[in-house]
Amino acid sequence: MSNASASALDPQAQAMLGRLNLKPGHAAVVGLQWGDEGKGKVVDLLTAGFDVVARYNGGANAGHTVCVGDQTYALHLIPSGILYPDKLNVLGNGVVVDPEQVVKEINALRGQGLKLDDNFLISDRAHVVMPYHKLQDTLQEAAVVKGKGGDANAIGTTGRGIGPCYADKALRSTAIRVADLMDDAHLRDLLTAVLAVKNATLAGLAAYAERDFTPIDLDATLAWLKPLAAVLRPHVTDSARLLHREIAAGKRILFEGANATLLDIDHGTYPFVTSSNCSSLGVHTGTGVAGHHVPNVIGIVKAYQTRVGGGPMPTELHDATGERIREVGREYGTTTGRPRRCGWLDLVALKYTATVSGATGLAIMLLDVLAGLDELKVCTAYRLDGKVSDEFPADARDLERVEPVYEVLSGFAADVTEHNDYASLPAEAHGYLKFIEDFIGVPVVMVSVGPKRSQSIFR
Ligand code: GDP
Ligand code: IMO
Ligand code: MG
Repeated sequence: MSNASASALDPQAQAMLGRLNLKPGHAAVVGLQWGDEGKGKVVDLLTAGFDVVARYNGGANAGHTVCVGDQTYALHLIPSGILYPDKLNVLGNGVVVDPEQVVKEINALRGQGLKLDDNFLISDRAHVVMPYHKLQDTLQEAAVVKGKGGDANAIGTTGRGIGPCYADKALRSTAIRVADLMDDAHLRDLLTAVLAVKNATLAGLAAYAERDFTPIDLDATLAWLKPLAAVLRPHVTDSARLLHREIAAGKRILFEGANATLLDIDHGTYPFVTSSNCSSLGVHTGTGVAGHHVPNVIGIVKAYQTRVGGGPMPTELHDATGERIREVGREYGTTTGRPRRCGWLDLVALKYTATVSGATGLAIMLLDVLAGLDELKVCTAYRLDGKVSDEFPADARDLERVEPVYEVLSGFAADVTEHNDYASLPAEAHGYLKFIEDFIGVPVVMVSVGPKRSQSIFR
């Protein structure tokens, strides 16, 4: 089974792929803001030039959208290379796998005519997101809001159980990995021990958060898991070994980041982050492929700034311009449907994330959304306690207090959605892109002017 129309790369994009100027070796696609930059679209486009697409982090908190022809593919866990039936798609050990979500996605994508069999593999070392992780996610947020006395303190998680699953990974004794699902007797023993601890923990959390709680039943959980594990079984493998075999055979790997560098657990706007290393630094721990193999990092950047959930966002707009960007850019979350907070492009944050993730090229996405704005502001410094600096603060409390310093650039009036070469873009759009490139010191290798494959300009 295959979907020929979905797998045929737009010939224009195919020709332009060579213009990316990639070094020999593998490449990573990484978000450089707070997520939803258009990573899915770029991974889909670039997959044509690679043999394997490997996700290295995150779980079903991600929502990657790929639009081809009249079809829209909403991907949460399955890599965005899945539209090409002849490419391998891998969930690395750093991903947290929600079995129910994977099965749902497999079925939905098959329903859309895509091949999903031996082209999709899951690491046996990946951790499993269980229903109690989702419950814990919600209870934890409710408890913390109560404890700290208000919504302003909430991370605003996606409720997909991400934090609790990674926490169990770190705790070890309450963790379940994909390999554990493959052995019924072992799983029963493991889950018996895990549920005893979980039920005690969750009962306490629920009591404090003033929520109802029914203890999780072992047999019901096992009965729920059994058919899901049966669907996953043929896809489970030692993914690190597999990737190294592919590397040795001269195959090219594209690493797909979920979430984004400002949400990185170590380098993001902590504690308003997710629970994995979503920067390019996570590629290596999340797949078992060492740094020297990956000399190319394509940093994905929305032409403006968005954020879903809590936490500081210095350039957030609470006015008609912010509203306009949200409506034109359809800035509503793929995973939760929440309206995204919108604002001007933050170059202080971008310079920081491009450095942390080691971006070797930038893809500027959704440029079309800015058409028609008279002026375009970009934040080039922060003012904090009277001091102006272009350094990104480590403490979210400082980031909350900074006042953005803007450079005002000319806007462009023309609709750019039909443009397909760099030279034909309006002079003001060139000015905007050049300003970004010069400020960050990393070349813009691609510009996106719409969700479709054909709406992509490679320089
Ligand atoms: P991801 O999480 O980084 O993969 O991004 P999402 O898929 O969550 O959000 C990006 C949204 O923008 C999706 O709905 C895409 O279809 C859409 N998109 C991608 N590139 C462009 C573009 O250049 N212009 C417009 N208007 N939409 C785009
Ligand atoms: P993609 O891959 C946007 C945000 C959530 C929340 C915080 C923590 O589509 O770009 P979590 O559920 O991970 O514990 O939530 O991180 N967040 C994202 N925001 N895009 C994403 O992924 C995100 N993944 C997590 O909104 O603020
Ligand atoms: Mg998204």
